[in-house]
Amino acid sequence: MKHFEQLSDLREQVSQWRKQGLTVGFVPTMGNLHEGHLQLIDTAQKHAEKVIVSIFVNPMQFGENEDLDAYPRTLEADKTALTMRGADAVFTPSVKDVYPRGLTAQTFVEVPEISNILCGASRPGHFRGVATVVCKLLNMVQPDVAVFGKKDYQQLMVIRLMAQDLSMPVSIIGMETSREESGLARSSRNGFLSAEQKQLASEIYKSMQSAASAIQEQSNNLKSIEADCTEQLRRAGFKPDYFSIRRQSDLLEPTTRDTDLVILVAAYIESATGTTRLIDNLEVVR
Ligand code: PAF
Repeated sequence: MKHFEQLSDLREQVSQWRKQGLTVGFVPTMGNLHEGHLQLIDTAQKHAEKVIVSIFVNPMQFGENEDLDAYPRTLEADKTALTMRGADAVFTPSVKDVYPRGLTAQTFVEVPEISNILCGASRPGHFRGVATVVCKLLNMVQPDVAVFGKKDYQQLMVIRLMAQDLSMPVSIIGMETSREESGLARSSRNGFLSAEQKQLASEIYKSMQSAASAIQEQSNNLKSIEADCTEQLRRAGFKPDYFSIRRQSDLLEPTTRDTDLVILVAAYIESATGTTRLIDNLEVVR
């Protein structure tokens, strides 16, 4: 596997592949790779002949009190995992190369409305940081396809809308959430949890499953399902941020006519390193 730190070297490689008529798939990550990330690479390999993975811990998407400094940097282990999974190249730009004019003077990309609800309401500026860096990375790599996990459901939607609104020549592919046997969605933040806390964290999946069954049984009472499941999480020891049933198309409150719904959850759990915010979601059709 090739490792590029400089954009010019990456572009040279991509243009060689293009001359050979090869298609390029891209998986942007912030590193600290786990099986969920590696499955994104498997998906990219199904859609493109060459796969590039970026590792960049993007300061623009972290709020002031968030865990930017604590975010684990595990480049050597990540490179080994990527090599074993058959990625063709890893791109690790520096913060200075991505934001040479600093974070505040930098042009940004913002997808309005959707960026301000749910996680966007609790993390102001987060989706602006995500959209800006993903736009930049897509411009740097210029892939045919880029793969993102559905675990970050709202993020995937922000990125799809950005690519569509800005007429970007890339297909955005969403991959199903990778889960542990307990149902817990794989996430780098699970690394902050002990085995016992991970077991507790799997309650999030269980609460979404009970909401999904309740939606099937009493589909017109979504607000009381949300309230019951929020209480279920609180009793289990979480501090729920939101437990919300939305429509899949735009993540707004569903009308009685909407059939394709998604349950979205964000909840805080106390862990050894402080408080960890976990998110998850489950699509449900009623
Ligand atoms: O999902 C992530 O890991 C990040 O938000 C992303 C898409 C790599 C942008 O920094």
